[in-house]
Amino acid sequence: MNFEYTEEQLAVRDAAREFAQTELLPGVIERDTEAKFPHEQIKKMGELGFLGMMVDPKYNGGGMDTVSYILAMEEISKVDASASVAMSVNNSLVCWGLEKYGNEEQKEKYLKRIASGEILGAFCLSEPEAGSDATSQKTTADLSGDHYVLNGTKNWITNGNTASVYVVIAQTDASKGHKGISAFIVEKEWEGFVIGKKEDKLGIRGSDTHSLMFTDVKVPVGNRIGDEGFGFTFAMETLNGGRIGIAAQALGIASGAYELALAYSKERKTFGKPISQHQAIQFKLADMATNIEAARLLVTKSAWLKDQGKDYSHASAMAKLYASQVAMDVTIEAVQVHGGYGFVKEYHVERLMRDAKITQIYEGTSEIQKIVISRSILR
Ligand code: CAA
Ligand code: FAD
Repeated sequence: MNFEYTEEQLAVRDAAREFAQTELLPGVIERDTEAKFPHEQIKKMGELGFLGMMVDPKYNGGGMDTVSYILAMEEISKVDASASVAMSVNNSLVCWGLEKYGNEEQKEKYLKRIASGEILGAFCLSEPEAGSDATSQKTTADLSGDHYVLNGTKNWITNGNTASVYVVIAQTDASKGHKGISAFIVEKEWEGFVIGKKEDKLGIRGSDTHSLMFTDVKVPVGNRIGDEGFGFTFAMETLNGGRIGIAAQALGIASGAYELALAYSKERKTFGKPISQHQAIQFKLADMATNIEAARLLVTKSAWLKDQGKDYSHASAMAKLYASQVAMDVTIEAVQVHGGYGFVKEYHVERLMRDAKITQIYEGTSEIQKIVISRSILR
């Protein structure tokens, strides 16, 4: 067993840290307040290779391992979780699925441009009445000659308006239940594809979340990913890896808040000494550090299992379940350590607390992670 990162992994972490501190930190409060997507910053992340980190270099990716990816996700999320969710969706929900299950033509046409960051991708599974209950897809794709006719609505889609290419899950044969669900690549410009209004959110306010409406959108048969009926398994397998990215995001939010609380506790004085000298504050810091370390071990283990080609579905659900709870607990305590200053925007921790909440909801709520874990335990 080896708990050391490699030199390459540390170099990726340091590059992500440097980028987050110099490019994401300035303006992060304004982007949150004004709900502005970090366009320029995401473009630079593409140029630096953060948007297709694990993709084979022959498809314009970085050819890196999952451990490097979670280190980068953590550093970016410490500062700007709106940027990191765009990164996570592009890397683990869009690039991974296209590389693993797309055909050569799809990889040439779409993956290369998405992995390089030239364009962004989005992953569209959720619907107004199919979130946790993902098999109840109402969006339909009916075969008509050389194309499918796509109809329906997708909800809460990250990169909803900034993406150019959308992986869309739809029912091709309702009589077969989840075995009649398929996955498609859909382009933004196609007729009948309408993007709904941007959601006004509690946290990750800079992220671009929209509903999407499809009315008789013609999708060429060649844009189906895998066989007909493979779409649900495709979505579940994609989410197994996606959950590692969101777990790393939660870890980053927690460690970002902890680092701010630690520094503040050494500066702020009450009753003649820094608050870090009061045992109540010391114990909060000890709890934060311990829980973050435990979350880091779970997140790293799930990434390591994926890199080893072993089953990671159970481990990624555990990592997301635990790290998202740690993100909530640590950010709430970080606000407390800051006292009144924690309640205002300038000190960042209130934003991190608002951002933490989404990690318990998307890519499967905490209750859904418990379903995934318990089914695996009881199987
Ligand atoms: N990995 C691989 N396959 C899986 C799987 C997993 N984690 N979970 C389920 N499956 C397979 C099952 O093996 C089964 O296949 P077979 O019939 O071939 O055996 C099939 O999927 C259906 O499984 P279930 O019978 O267990 O289905 P269910 O309806 O009882 O529930 C569920 C399954 C786990 C609850 C699933 O619906 C689920 O994960 N829901 C949450 C959806 C979700 O995470 N959405 C995220 C959207 S993307 C997003 O959120 C992005 C973002 O924010 C940034
Ligand atoms: P519901 O499924 O209605 O759940 C409501 C509550 O009931 C939750 O607490 C849930 O845990 C609980 N619950 C439901 N079923 C059970 C059960 N069987 N047992 C116990 N408890 C249960 N989706 C995408 O496809 N792509 C995206 O890019 C994307 N980005 C998102 C970005 C944001 C900001 C948000 C808010 C959501 C995003 N989602 C995306 C959707 C997200 O994955 C869903 O919101 C999530 O899966 C929950 O679905 P729901 O909102 O329909 O809640």
